[in-house]
Amino acid sequence: MRKQYYSIAIDGPSGAGKSTLSERLAKELGFLHVDTGAIYRTVGLAARRRGIGQGDTKAVAAMLPQLNVELRYSSDGTQRMLLDGEDVTQAIRHHEISAWASMVSAIPEVRDFLLEMQRKLAREHNVIMDGRDIGTVVLPDADLKIYLTAQPEDRARRRYLELKERGEPADEAQTLQDVIARDRRDMERSVAPLRKAEDAVTADTTGRNQEESFQLLLSLVRDHLGELGGGKS
Ligand code: DC
Repeated sequence: MRKQYYSIAIDGPSGAGKSTLSERLAKELGFLHVDTGAIYRTVGLAARRRGIGQGDTKAVAAMLPQLNVELRYSSDGTQRMLLDGEDVTQAIRHHEISAWASMVSAIPEVRDFLLEMQRKLAREHNVIMDGRDIGTVVLPDADLKIYLTAQPEDRARRRYLELKERGEPADEAQTLQDVIARDRRDMERSVAPLRKAEDAVTADTTGRNQEESFQLLLSLVRDHLGELGGGKS
């Protein structure tokens, strides 16, 4: 029997280019791109808006039953996030929300709450899903698992340039410290820590620009998924 839907899991530390590259790859293949970091960011924004204190895990868990988090796709395939019916796609990108997302993502109740939502998308579509635990927890049977990484200095530099371009205050040395601290939090937490799945292929984008990184991923997909990598599904 022909398999119904394909799934590609892309995990890795922040700043490796997961979201941008996954989005491009999804468009190339005609797959749905699911940026799971955006989902955690939406829950983080909700906690902040409800005036919950950072670190108050009980209050975060208690707000979940009333929370309405939805994913939508624009006609060009871009993922949009809705919180209680409001489009928060821009709001969740605010620098401050990164810390909130990191905080809520370490709470087991939050991860359980979002697990089925992520799996359902993969049951109903061809997906490229990017995050931290997609290959290890969310989609352990994904057709292809990629661990996308780059040296912290490279990731910090990209993040710094991105902030500068957006006109946000940025300091390169501080950005590197932030990247290292965030890596440590994401890798050392007890719940769904960031780690490479045993059957994942590593793609290291250190020293590569976006186009070169994209070509690297595309060739991995072509090697592993055969005819699918050749064009739109
Ligand atoms: O990829 P990002 O920076 O937008 O993710 C925001 C936060 O959410 C980050 O601290 C890691 C966390 N996250 C997670 O724990 N699991 C995922 N699958 C995706 C993101």
